[in-house]
Amino acid sequence: MTERTDRIPDLESIRSLFPGLSSETVLLENAGGSQVPGFVADAIRDHLLRDYVQLGAGYPASDRATATVERAHRFLDRFVNGSEVGRVILGSSCTSLMHVLAHAIARTIEAGDEIVVCEQGHEANIGCWLELEAQGAVIRWWKVDPGTGSLRLDALREVLSDRTRYVAFPHVSNLLGEIVDVEAATRLVHAAGGRVVVDGVAYAPHRAIDVDAWGVDFYAWSTYKVYGPHMGGLFGRHEALAELEGPNHFFIPKEEIPYKFELGGASHEGCAGICALARLLSILAGDPEPADDIADTCDHRTVRTAFDTMTSFEAPVQSRLLERLRRHDSVRIIGPDSADTHVRVSTISMLHRTLDPARIVDIAHSGGIGIRCGHMYAYRLCERMGIPVDAGVVRISAVHYNTVQEVDRLCDVLDASLAG
Ligand SMILES: Cc1ncc(COP(=O)(O)O)c(C=O)c1O
Repeated sequence: MTERTDRIPDLESIRSLFPGLSSETVLLENAGGSQVPGFVADAIRDHLLRDYVQLGAGYPASDRATATVERAHRFLDRFVNGSEVGRVILGSSCTSLMHVLAHAIARTIEAGDEIVVCEQGHEANIGCWLELEAQGAVIRWWKVDPGTGSLRLDALREVLSDRTRYVAFPHVSNLLGEIVDVEAATRLVHAAGGRVVVDGVAYAPHRAIDVDAWGVDFYAWSTYKVYGPHMGGLFGRHEALAELEGPNHFFIPKEEIPYKFELGGASHEGCAGICALARLLSILAGDPEPADDIADTCDHRTVRTAFDTMTSFEAPVQSRLLERLRRHDSVRIIGPDSADTHVRVSTISMLHRTLDPARIVDIAHSGGIGIRCGHMYAYRLCERMGIPVDAGVVRISAVHYNTVQEVDRLCDVLDASLAG
């Protein structure tokens, strides 16, 4: 780590790092994908123009490219606090990594093994597990409360047994914004003898991942929603990975982790972008001028401090949005009606008594605000909650770089219609 001042940076200076925020549209659709700092885009460009050659050939550009890909992996191991306990595997998306994992697990399934999937999940962490039924697995469902969509640990306890092999569940629902107690759920699953596969995609843009503290076996997220390039990351604990064989070519040893799980390798230019992300975290952690090679030293303490800063920026934004939506009797918040940052992240969905979600989104778009509607691939959650999947919900999703003024602008545009 470089010298820190421990000064929390001001929001305007952080916003100025993200060229995309000067777009004509206010971006409140960050749960779909976030913006990147200019230096992340520059690192990707520099890699493409200078080091865009194959790894491991032994000439200078190839050595630099190899070092970039290895550095990105080491940095992400520290990013999730997993350096001592496992490795991060990179892929094109969370969905593709979940399929790679499910495919490797499928080879170990015996008839009667139980897999628990969760109704609150995004389909990326459901569909690939249901396919294991063909291998003889028995599928059990961790059900939500149909009124609120909320998950209770009691409901998990009910579906665990001594046949439980894996439990796949979200850390945060990308539709509800509710934070699940991953540590407690993992303890329950481990006590039953199973392993957990956590979808952290909707959590990772908002709070620091800590796979060591939570004890999780597998934890996935999308780097393109966490201010980086369009890729996915999957942390796997050493013991959990050792039980599996990755799908990469037969002559690549089983122990060659993460490569054995990285079909065709990870995007090299994406890895360059990931390394540059360490710079954003260091700035958010109070170091105004981090060194260029900060990815090699950015530690988990820096990551935690950076996300604490992000949470402190998000808190007034989610509080304001909920407060303005609550002014309308016709609006129903879908997800926790609480601004407590321990309870939810700033991904907030709603329904209106009479207006279609698509109509509300149209009004926002005409006012220059980007939000969206739909089932958000939480198809089964919508079905369970009685929300028509064709219409879905209206979702407004902020991250640390959004402002209370942006939320006010959205609500000013919507107020007259929502009052109807
Ligand atoms: C909660 C959640 N899980 C998984 C995914 C899928 O991620 P990816 O696009 O990286 O496959 C998403 C995407 O929106 C998501 O919100």
